[in-house]
This record gives sequence, C-alpha cells and structure tokens, in this order.
Amino acid sequence: MKIIGTGSALPKFEATNDMLSQIMDTDDEWISSRTGIKRRHLLSEQDLTEIGVEACMKALDNAGIAAEELDYIICSNTVNEFITPGLGCILQGQIGAKCPCIDINAACSGFLYGMQIANSFIASGVAKKVMVVAAEEPSRIPSWQDRSTCVLFGDGAGAVIFSDESNDVLSMRTTTTSAYEVLYSKRAMEQHPFQKEETKDVPLVMNGREVFKMAVSNSQEDIKAVMKDANISSDQVKYFVLHQANIRIVDAIQHFLGEPKEKFPTTIDYTGNTSSACIPILLDRLNREGKLSKGDVLVMSAFGAGFETAACVIKWNK
Ligand code: ACO
Repeated sequence: MKIIGTGSALPKFEATNDMLSQIMDTDDEWISSRTGIKRRHLLSEQDLTEIGVEACMKALDNAGIAAEELDYIICSNTVNEFITPGLGCILQGQIGAKCPCIDINAACSGFLYGMQIANSFIASGVAKKVMVVAAEEPSRIPSWQDRSTCVLFGDGAGAVIFSDESNDVLSMRTTTTSAYEVLYSKRAMEQHPFQKEETKDVPLVMNGREVFKMAVSNSQEDIKAVMKDANISSDQVKYFVLHQANIRIVDAIQHFLGEPKEKFPTTIDYTGNTSSACIPILLDRLNREGKLSKGDVLVMSAFGAGFETAACVIKWNK
C-alpha cells in the first residue's frame, strides 16, 4: 500500500509542567529531565470525537479524496467515553464516510497494528483506500493523584490514508508478550444479580522502570528485524519515527542503534505521550513541514501495554 494523505489534531487546551506543579507535588525540572515533556494538550472543553474528526478531515484533504471514497476505516483507540459503539463508527458518520469501520485496541502500538490490518485488506482486495485513525485520550487513564503517571500523557489524534496504488511497505512485524501487570488499568462494570464480586476502577498501574527496559530492548530488536527483512541499511533510512513516550527511551534506542540524533524527530516536548496517536501525529508533522521527499525510507516502531510492539519499514512515495 501507499500513503496518500496524513492529518492530525491536538486539543486547544495546553497544560505546561508549571501548571501541573500548581496542582500537585511536581516541577518542570523533574518532568522534563526524566521525560522530555514540557507541555501536553488535554481535552478540556472539546471531546475526543472533535479532534478525531479534525485529524480525519485533514488527512482526506491532504490525500485529495472525499470521505465517500474510503473503503474502510480502522480506528485505534484505548479509551473513550463510549464502551460501545466503537469510536470509528462515530467518526465515520461525522466525516460523511459510508464504509465499514472497526476499532482496535493494541494500546500505544495500535496505529502500527492498524497499518498491518490495512495492508492485509488492501493486499487481499477487501479495500482499495483505507484510513487508519488513532484517536486517544490517555490523560483519562491514570489517577490525577498519581504524579508518577499522570504527568506523562497528552491527548491527540492522527490519521493516515493508504491506497492500493503501489506497494511501499517493505517489511512489518508485530509481537505480543503477555505481561499485563507491567502496565494496566481496569474499569468497574455494571453488576448483575448473579455476580459474586464487584469490579472496581483501577487507574493506570505502571512499573515505569520495567516499561523503560522492555521498550528499549524490544524496539531495538523490532527495528533491526524489519530493516533486515526489508534488506535496507541504516544509511538508507531518512527518519526513525518512534512512539513518543519518553525522550530518554527515544535517546536510548538511538544510542543502541548507533544512529545520528537528527534521524529521530520528536514531538514529545509539546504533546507528551498520546498513546497510539504519537506516530501518525509525528508523521503528519514531518509531512506538513516538508521534511519528506518521494522515495524516503521511514522506519516506524512502537511499544505499549500488553506488552505489544510493532515496527515497519515504509517508503514515502507521496
Ligand atoms: N514529580 C516529582 N517527583 C516525582 C514525580 C513527579 N511527577 N513522579 C515520581 N516522582 C518521585 C518518586 O516518588 C520517587 O521519589 P522517591 O525516590 O522519594 O521515592 C522519585 O521521583 C524517583 O521515581 P522513579 O520512579 O525512580 O523515577 P524514574 O527515574 O524511574 O523515572 C519514569 C520515572 C519517568 C516514569 C521512568 O521510569 C520512565 O520513563 N519509564 C517509562 C515509562 C513510560 O514511558 N511509560 C509510557 C506509558 S505507556 C506507553 O506508552 C507504553
């Protein structure tokens, strides 16, 4: 498949580290030195649907196609106020598309899992034009009494449209290692009369150091594997488009790969971790800033709760 359009949207409201330090025991020095985050956009008066629609509309405009031309929408979302229907169904109606939609939850790796499904749909003839949209509000997962997790996240949405015009995915890999206790959150569900135990809300539980280690080692392994499968050397790679959880994770991956820093663009300083929206937001920024040329090779890689990781090599051919 080929990338034909990108779009992204961030909520209007921004919270700086200094603003957080006024409501909890933290400071800019602690947050920025450990994570690279200076500020994050949070949904305040807007809702997730609004920024999801904005990202989709920008991607359609960038692709130069109408919503009716989409054959499938794959929506990556970890949490939103609707348990059902899937967020993709809501976005479909609001952008005026008519195609089928599915939601997937592969946490922060969801956009790349969505790309893999899109690639299969296109290869098998199910669809010719597929939009993968990641719309996320991870700021609603941790407790805002827990300073070690809530400062890490921001909300956002990114969308990418793929078509069957050429075959630009050079390799792709997804892996799951069941380790839910490292990073999870639970929600209370309605009780029925035959239930023995009540379910309870458990805001995000994260073993930060373990996530850090798994992220660095798995991402490196994934990146090396997809580059080998695609038969490309590092000097052929224009950018490594990585999940934006923490600048120190990006720096560690860069260090272990032995690649120059300029090949690792980031948005983390102003977005925080927007879960699966990180990669399409970053890709859209590169596209709109004119940093991508036809033929550029991009390596994408993400990790997230599960523990699920994914990586791919794709040629920018737009
Ligand atoms: N402000 C000030 N102090 C804080 C804060 C805060 N916001 N949060 C924690 N602290 C304190 C802790 O209480 C602790 O204090 P103590 O030593 O008195 O007990 C101290 O800072 C050190 O805490 P550590 O947890 O040891 O800090 P560490 O250096 O490991 O950094 C961090 C924590 C940034 C979370 C790091 O472990 C990390 O980056 N892990 C990766 C996590 C990640 O990226 N998750 C992504 C989320 S999900 C995803 O995308 C897959």
